This record gives sequence, structure tokens and C-alpha cells, in this order.
Amino acid sequence: MSKKKLRLAVLISGTGRSLKNFIDHISAGTLSAEIAVVISSVSNVTGLQYAEEESIPIEIVERSQFDSLNEFSEANFNICRAAGVDYVVLAGYLRLLKIPKDFENRVLNIHPSLIPSFCGKGYYGNIVHAKVLEYGAKLSGCTVHFVDQEYDNGPIILQKPVEVREDDTPDILNARVFAAECIAYPEAISLLADGRVSIYGRTVKIAPPNNNKNQKSGEIDF
Ligand code: GRF
Repeated sequence: MSKKKLRLAVLISGTGRSLKNFIDHISAGTLSAEIAVVISSVSNVTGLQYAEEESIPIEIVERSQFDSLNEFSEANFNICRAAGVDYVVLAGYLRLLKIPKDFENRVLNIHPSLIPSFCGKGYYGNIVHAKVLEYGAKLSGCTVHFVDQEYDNGPIILQKPVEVREDDTPDILNARVFAAECIAYPEAISLLADGRVSIYGRTVKIAPPNNNKNQKSGEIDF
């Protein structure tokens, strides 16, 4: 049976390393998805070049163009609706969004730490890794989660730990965590494509491969 190909909107604000990773996985046949649109909250960011190279439609939606969070969010989700996407994937996206009802549990994010540590408003980029090092944590990693109305707060789909070494700098730790992200994010999207993800309150359960038949009523599938 062929896998469902998910239609994605990828939202970026910067270098687009995760976007590039998705493009590479899709080309290699290791991610059953297509990117229907890339939306950037900042114009002229380098990540847009990856979309251009692949002829993926691009939209720029800047927060400063809108008076309210609601209007800004709707502008983004209207593009996603028009593109008929299954999931909205935040990939280095640095703006808060208000998730409308029809996109609840259909917006994903990856954060470069093991949530609930080193996350929330203001924790992005190397700030996260610098805080991990400052704290003396021995483990860090990445977290793929559904997005709700708060920063880095929704149900966790999967996490990948990485070790923190004594001679790490924020840049070195960033690179090690990002290598884990390059595996984790496509893996999470593949789980969704395979229909293996169920949400119970804020807990996500992952069904074993090819075993979607034992669901009980009340479970929500995506
Ligand atoms: C990653 O560290 C990810 O965890 C976070 O943004 C970073 C990727 O941004 N959400 P970019 O793709 O390099 O712009």
C-alpha cells in the first residue's frame, strides 16, 4: 500500500535549514510529503532561496503588516487553507500564531531542547544552547510537538536526546542538536503520514508500524 503524501506549508523566519532538510528528504524518497507553500515572516531571508530553487510557491507575511495577532494569524492560515495543506510545519519560525479551530493539532514545531526545559518565550537559536551550557545540563536534544496557543507548549510527538560535552560551545551544541533535528522532524511527519499518531489530552501515543486496527472509540487520529 502506498503511503499517504502529506501536503505541507513550511513556515520560516531565517536560514531555512529545516526547510532544506525536508527538501532533501523528499528528493531522497525518505519523507512522504510535498511542500505546497513556504511562508516567511521576514522578507529576503536565505531560507527562501531553497524554496525558489524547488519552484515552491513563496509568501511573505510580516507581523508588522497587521494590527492584531488574530489578523496576522488568519493571513497565514488563509494561505494554508488556499494551498489545501494537511499540516503547517514551523521550521525556525519565530512568531507566535493564534491557531484557529480548523488547524488545531495540525501545526507542528521543533524546538532545540528537551521540552519542558530551556523553552518558552525568548528561547530560540543559540540562546537555548547557551542556557543549557550555563545550567550545566548533561543532556539536551530536540522536541517535535503540536503547537497550541503558547510557546513550546503543545503535546509532544517525539524527542531525541543528545549528550552535552564539557568543551561544548553554543555553536557546537547547536550543530549536534540540529543533526538530531534532521532525523526527528521528518520522522514525526512520517508518523503522521502513516496514521500512527493519536492524541489523548496532552499525551501523544505512537502506534506500532502497520497496526492501526486496535483503536478504541474516543481516540483522535491524525
Ligand atoms: C532549529 O534549531 C529549530 O529547532 C528551531 O529553529 C532552528 C532552525 O532554524 N525551531 P533555521 O531553519 O536554521 O532557520
